[in-house]
Formats: sequence, C-alpha cells, structure tokens
Amino acid sequence: MFRLDDKIALITGAGSGIGEAIAKVFARQGAQVIVADVVSEAASRVAEAIRQQGYSATAVAFDVAEEEPVREAFAQLGGYRRLDILVNNAGISHVGSILETSLDDWERVLRVNARGAFLCAREAVRTMTEQRPQGGIIINMASVAAQIGVERRLPYSASKGAILAMTRSIAMDFVGHGIRCNAICPGTVQTPFVEGYLARNFPGQEEAVRQSLHARQPLGRMGLPEEIASAALYLAADEAAFVTGSALVIDGGWTAK
Ligand SMILES: NC(=O)c1ccc[n+]([C@@H]2O[C@H](COP(=O)([O-])OP(=O)(O)OC[C@H]3O[C@@H](n4cnc5c(N)ncnc54)[C@H](O)[C@@H]3O)[C@@H](O)[C@H]2O)c1
Repeated sequence: MFRLDDKIALITGAGSGIGEAIAKVFARQGAQVIVADVVSEAASRVAEAIRQQGYSATAVAFDVAEEEPVREAFAQLGGYRRLDILVNNAGISHVGSILETSLDDWERVLRVNARGAFLCAREAVRTMTEQRPQGGIIINMASVAAQIGVERRLPYSASKGAILAMTRSIAMDFVGHGIRCNAICPGTVQTPFVEGYLARNFPGQEEAVRQSLHARQPLGRMGLPEEIASAALYLAADEAAFVTGSALVIDGGWTAK
C-alpha cells in the first residue's frame, strides 16, 4: 500500500521539519526524491541522510519565491526532467494582528507562502501537462489557520487561505490532464518552525508557551512531522486516486472544537 515506486517527487522546504519527514517517507516508499530548500546545506544534509539509508535523493537549493531560479530548478528536476509529485511545503510564519503587521511583514510572508507556492505549482503544472503520460500530483501545505481564526496570525492565515483557494483552482483547471491537487491543513506540529517562533516571540517563557501549544489541541499534544508526512504519502499514492481539490485536516481535533 502507498508505494511511490519510480515516481519523481520534488519537496520544497525539505531541509527541515515537515518537508524533511515527507522526503524521507517518500524515499522509503520508492520515490526518487528531489530535496529542495533555500538553505543549501540543509537540503544536502537531508538528501545525504536518505542516501545513507539506501534510498534515492538529490539536493537542490533555490528560493521558491524567485521566478528565474524556480524555472531553472524545474527545467533540471535534479537531472530527471520529469515530475510526478510536487509538495509545496516551504513556508515561514509571523505573529501579529492586523495592527501588528507592517506592510513589509505582509509582503515577506505572502512572498514565500503564496507567491512561492504559485511559482512552483505553475512550473509543475507546465511539466505535468507536457510530459507523457500526462499528469501528476500537487500537494500544498496549508494550515488550520486557513480555516479557523487563529489569534495574531494575520498575514500567515491570509497566505494559507490563498493556498487553499489555489489548490481548488488547480484541481478544477487540470482535472482533465490527470493532475490531482490537494492541500494539507496541519494543526501545530513540533518542528524547528515552532521552536523558532517560541524563541523569537516568547524568550524566557518558551516552556510555558510550548505547553499551551500542546494543550490547545484536544488530543493534548502537538503533531509530529511524520504524522503530516503520512497524510502527504496518502495523497501522493494511487490509493488517493479519487481525491482532488480537498483539504485534509490533521490537527489533533483543534478545528472540531
Ligand atoms: N509546524 C507547524 O506547526 C505547522 C502548522 C501548519 C502548517 N505548517 C506549514 O508546514 C510547512 C513546513 O513547516 P515546518 O514546521 O516544517 O517548518 P520548518 O521551518 O521546520 O521548515 C521550513 C523549511 O522551509 C525552508 N524555506 C523557508 N523559506 C524558503 C524559501 N523562500 N524557499 C525555499 N525554502 C524555504 C526553510 O529553510 C526550512 O528548511 C510550512 O509551509 C508551514 O507553514 C507548519
């Protein structure tokens, strides 16, 4: 079940956290993984770790929000020149209400999370519609913040809302080309993303705030990167052939409250 044998899969933001876990599980399930990250050493570290396990991975470094580097990366596709699966996972956060969000904050977050996802998805759709046989799978990392109001997450929520809308648009526009496009909406997941948020915003109170992040989810804990990677694996696999345009919520019950 859930095999990805011989599929070429590019995962952005795969040098850390959820993207790293996705790259590792995809490789274990048979995919040839292209580990992409803006931090070159992080991409190389993850690709090397995958190869050490006896699986296939290559590293590529580019900023998802820069048009020309994205175009070049998708032209090369790690030498495979074919793409079966794109996971648009790279993302950054910001804490603040609308009154705590400068125009620079807004543009910085939207640049990576929305513009970056758009640029990568556009190149992926171009490749997937041109290759033979046509088709492929796009998985966009959204968030529960796209579905419910999370306090002081104004530009982050807006960027993830854009991703959900883009997911549905791509799914409908290219359903006839064999492309399935879905989103995942994680709750809070324990990754360097969250640890960075604690260090930046709550210095000295990290442990208390970490416990509140565990507690706000009815299951009483944050998710694990591997639990989100399992959802990505399902969406990427043939077992999800009837799933497109959807948003899979993995949030310990948070949005059910
Ligand atoms: N951790 C959570 O609680 C959580 C919850 C919901 C959604 N998400 C989403 O999941 C995704 C991954 O989050 P994570 O927690 O694993 O974060 P992370 O910070 O651990 O990893 C993100 C990776 O993206 C890379 N990146 C950042 N900007 C980039 C750019 N411009 N181009 C290419 N790569 C870039 C970083 O270098 C990093 O390796 C993000 O889109 C995030 O919004 C995370």
